[in-house]
Amino acid sequence: MATTVLSLAKKSSTKKQSKPAPFVKWVGGKGRLLSDLQQYIPAEIGRYAEPFVGGGAVFYHLAAQHQLSEAILADVNPDVVNAYRVVKSQVEPLIVALMRHEKCYLSLDAEGRKAYFYEVRSRHPMDVEMNAVERAARMLFLNRTCFNGLWRENRSGRFNTPHGRYAKPRIARAPQLRLCSQVLDKATVLERDFRLLPKLCRDHQIDFVYLDPPYHPISQTSAFNAYSNGGFSSRDQAELAEVCAELDRMDVRWVLSNSDCELIRSLYTPFNIGQIWAPRAVNSDASKRGRVSEVVVVNRRKGLPW
Ligand SMILES: C[S@@+](CC[C@H](N)C(=O)[O-])C[C@H]1O[C@@H](n2cnc3c(N)ncnc32)[C@H](O)[C@@H]1O
Repeated sequence: MATTVLSLAKKSSTKKQSKPAPFVKWVGGKGRLLSDLQQYIPAEIGRYAEPFVGGGAVFYHLAAQHQLSEAILADVNPDVVNAYRVVKSQVEPLIVALMRHEKCYLSLDAEGRKAYFYEVRSRHPMDVEMNAVERAARMLFLNRTCFNGLWRENRSGRFNTPHGRYAKPRIARAPQLRLCSQVLDKATVLERDFRLLPKLCRDHQIDFVYLDPPYHPISQTSAFNAYSNGGFSSRDQAELAEVCAELDRMDVRWVLSNSDCELIRSLYTPFNIGQIWAPRAVNSDASKRGRVSEVVVVNRRKGLPW
């Protein structure tokens, strides 16, 4: 019998870390919204695709619930794609590289840690030759030790978040990485722009897609779309809505998250638009971090609460 993502996840369960969860902290991560999103997810999923995978919270959640026979995970950010591939197929060398970072970093005083962080940050894979494992270790180290775990890139694709001040960051989390590695066993991870999604769905006979693009800003200051050097414009949002319409014509079920604003509601008028309230954390002013309305757009009515 074919081994499924689910059975792999179950086999590797331990009491301490029984559920696979994102191995990167990611802005817009859906970890805290899984129970709100659950009502929109179909009861049966076989072949799954997630074109804006980021930290992958929804993928891990679905992999634990469904007998996924295939999962296509994609993102345009080359560092995140490389990290997934390394976690999937070279997890032990990655753990060794992260332990090395952890040992060096934690042995230093505050000034030493800061210098170590900026040294690692300055060694960019575009300038310095490094193999896939070193590149993934660099990314995960920076992700665990930077300010707020915020992966932000400038226009030339360079990570530019400053150093964070965690007393004892957990850099090499071996049990969690091993669990993710096993769940990723059946997944294919691709560096792709979302515009290629219809072809991917056709080629892999995908039956359900969850889309979590960079959100359209609801105000001048609320935007965070610097996940990668390209940003995400209103035009990108409009092209994404066209891609979703094409998937609908292909009979592929999908669920999309985005900010609750006029542009997004107008782009998805032909579909079913639900609403959830999400905690928002990307604001340096803690008083402006309250709950914010988000839309959940669904292209199928059947079996849903509306
Ligand atoms: C809101 S985040 C996804 C968060 C994810 N759902 C999670 O739980 O961590 C949006 C993702 O879209 C990716 N992205 C941005 N532009 C893209 C594009 N044109 N095509 C594909 N992915 C893109 C970003 O790199 C980022 O990882």
